[in-house]
Amino acid sequence: MNEISTVYDCNILPLNKIHNRAGNITIVEGNDNIPFMAKRIYYLYDIPGGGRRGGHAHKGLYQLIVAASGSFDVLLDDGINKKIVTLNRPDYGLLVVPGIWRELFEFSSGSVCLVLASEKYDEADYIRKYNSFKTWKYKK
Ligand code: TYD
Repeated sequence: MNEISTVYDCNILPLNKIHNRAGNITIVEGNDNIPFMAKRIYYLYDIPGGGRRGGHAHKGLYQLIVAASGSFDVLLDDGINKKIVTLNRPDYGLLVVPGIWRELFEFSSGSVCLVLASEKYDEADYIRKYNSFKTWKYKK
């Protein structure tokens, strides 16, 4: 997947939502609704106005990115194609497959970016320079 993946493999996945007057709940259980088992969960918050996050690719990691609160934009780039996805609903997640450069920006005030990841943190899985990403992706 990683070297041949494209931005078109990154889709918005609907999550479940149990709705009632006391509020809503969305549940991700095992890999019932997403194509990987989440081994790690983290969230970004208190992001300063105009802040940008991401700016890297992963060699093998799958992620589901959710706007748990507020909204933000995600730029996806496979080295050839780019697309920008706006996330603004806690019951939808953006699947980001391996081998995609991503940048997160336009965070609304107080927004929370929840990320489910298929593996534990591994700095060796990151590609943090765009030129290195292009070389890695199209080396063959
Ligand atoms: P990074 O993934 O570069 O942040 P972002 O994509 O949100 O801009 O991570 C920022 C810092 O946090 C970096 O020093 C690595 C560290 N970090 C961990 O130690 N464990 C993790 O699971 C994550 C996601 C980051």
